Amino acid sequence: KIEKKIDSVLKLMTLDEKIGQLNQYTGGDATGPITNNPNKLKDIKEGKLGSLLNVKGAAETRKVQEAAMQSRMKIPLLFGLDVIHGYRVTFPIPLAEAASWDLAEMENAARVAARETAASGVHWTFAPMVDIARDPRWGRVMEGAGEDTYLGSQIAKARVHGFQGKGLGNLDAIMACAKHFAAYGAAIAGRDYNAVDMSEHTLWETYLPPFKAALDAGAATFMNSFNTLNGIPATGNTYLQRDILKGKWKYTGFVVSDWGSIGEMINHGYAKNKSEAAELAIKAGSDMDMESRSYLPSLAKLVQDKKVSVALIDDAVRRILRKKFELGLFDDPYRFSNVEREKKELNSAENRAASLKMAEKSIVLLKNEKQTLPLSKDLKKIAVIGPLAKSEKDMQGFWSIAWENDKLVSLYEGLKNKVGDKTELLYAKGCGISDSSKTGFAEAVEVAKQADVVIIAAGETLDMSGEAKSKTNIHIPGVQEDLIKAIQATGKPVVVLLMAGRPLIFNWTADNVPAIMYTWWLGSEAGNAMANVLFGDYNPAGKLPMTFPRSEGQIPLYYNYLSTGRPSNSDKDRNYKSAYLDSPNSPRFAFGHGLSYTTFDYSALSLSKTQLTMNDKINVSFTLKNTGKYDGEEVVQLYLQDKFASVVRPVKELKDFQKVSLKAGEAKNISFTIDKEKLSFYNQQLKWGAEAGDFKLMIGTASDKIKLEKDFTLTN
Ligand code: IFM
Repeated sequence: KIEKKIDSVLKLMTLDEKIGQLNQYTGGDATGPITNNPNKLKDIKEGKLGSLLNVKGAAETRKVQEAAMQSRMKIPLLFGLDVIHGYRVTFPIPLAEAASWDLAEMENAARVAARETAASGVHWTFAPMVDIARDPRWGRVMEGAGEDTYLGSQIAKARVHGFQGKGLGNLDAIMACAKHFAAYGAAIAGRDYNAVDMSEHTLWETYLPPFKAALDAGAATFMNSFNTLNGIPATGNTYLQRDILKGKWKYTGFVVSDWGSIGEMINHGYAKNKSEAAELAIKAGSDMDMESRSYLPSLAKLVQDKKVSVALIDDAVRRILRKKFELGLFDDPYRFSNVEREKKELNSAENRAASLKMAEKSIVLLKNEKQTLPLSKDLKKIAVIGPLAKSEKDMQGFWSIAWENDKLVSLYEGLKNKVGDKTELLYAKGCGISDSSKTGFAEAVEVAKQADVVIIAAGETLDMSGEAKSKTNIHIPGVQEDLIKAIQATGKPVVVLLMAGRPLIFNWTADNVPAIMYTWWLGSEAGNAMANVLFGDYNPAGKLPMTFPRSEGQIPLYYNYLSTGRPSNSDKDRNYKSAYLDSPNSPRFAFGHGLSYTTFDYSALSLSKTQLTMNDKINVSFTLKNTGKYDGEEVVQLYLQDKFASVVRPVKELKDFQKVSLKAGEAKNISFTIDKEKLSFYNQQLKWGAEAGDFKLMIGTASDKIKLEKDFTLTN
């Protein structure tokens, strides 16, 4: 039915109007470099725009849509925005949420963001970012789900479901956008916008599956990327967009370019000018031009010169109109721009409660010795020290696009909310985030000495991780670790909270401080969430979605590396081994690591069979027992290794997980299923399938803490 409607609209459109649909400008904030500033409202009225990004708010979107209704064809505009982790209520940054391994909660976080966004007149988020990222120098690791393909694919699905809810057309659903297609997360040396060079195997096995998962979940749109892939810009890449996405995967949505990425093919040395860039991009499958102003001035002439066919333009327009129909915009272009609904929806108590829950679940307890945590509620004095202790703004993290400054909760405020007048809170800043000066240390030490416990808040400001925030030095910035040393020297019990958008390096702290929590950037309710976890009102259960290195020299470092011919079997096993002279191979904290206030025991592993045929399944079961004194949750991780294969396989790969809740003392039987799909990989001919042979099953609490293992075989 929609296809017929599209036909009838297309028939009425001039070529220029069609090209207008493929054009997108920014309407407000700049989330990239603006090259010139046309009169946007005039262009809209002349039918030269199909979409705007960065226009938000029910009143504002209505006003701009009114201009579109003055164009000859009256085709409604699409409003897109980077709703990366919440809209008015901010949620933890995506990497933090990934640490929860809680798919339902992540879906709900995206649902809340979608409701708020849709109520503000915006139809489309440029999320989820599903790029696998194994290099913490790259600032955009904060936006994704981390290093693992399986976890990343599950999260991609959950987020798309969350944004799109019961489907486009519902007033609380917005279009998701799987980005950045493809392999942007593998920018060489972690430098943003840099080239990507990778094997077909790595592309198919590691980087493409989360995109496929997003597509299977119904992602309405895709965004291509700034990088070249094996020498071809992703934006002009026919293999990626036509052969894989729109061909093999039969994708019917549209592809938007990244900001300016069509024009940037000139800088790449791939296109001589904007006209050639436009030709290459449209042929390769980029349907909408975000902010490069290449399509609008070039496509008509390219059609005239017979370099680009009208059929190609029609296909791109059709894909965009399809989404406008699905969203119901042809029935009512203002249906999302409702000031009353917006007022009710934004920052509601329910939305804030969801953000708090997500934030608690995102915290990772990295270390907890001497039972430092949870804190007793009977403490007389707590010292809160550090440059981030009173910062609310930084808790929002990069890409917080519509938050309000007065509704955020800092760590200090969260603690105050928790302890009231019962416990005295002392405070000293100690130093600035990137300061080299230690003049504030003396005061901080004095404050620490008066307290029963010291909580130190250290890490990054919100502009230190994110787009264009690559770094060569990812140690805790400035003299913050020196501040931690000075406070630790007082002999007081110390808890360090690290707030950041990427894995940081903090070896001294990891070796010497008894309790460390990684709290990332947790969003609107950050302080309340941290307080709840510090006092044990929420027992932390987060697990790292990315490996934390000991040094930048180890990067890229990830748990599922390929077997080598000279494996180093321990950090001491280095002689003529695949190892470093000056560093262990092992990470500081491994993928999947994260502690709880309680303890878990894994036992009684049993496999329904140890010989499996291709159409068969193995039922795996074991007992998980909460052996500590707190109720808690454990993320049980299932890894597999194909021991011998026609293509060298990783030492282990995450293939399943479960988040299990257990009361203190409770035991549960946990079961998983292993089938051929879980044992499959791309062979030398890039064909997906499983090979008969020997496999190892590993069940663990982290990728480096395997608790149970057993071998089995797959036969033809
Ligand atoms: O959506 C983003 C993209 O991820 C990076 N460049 C800018 C776009 C729009 O803001």
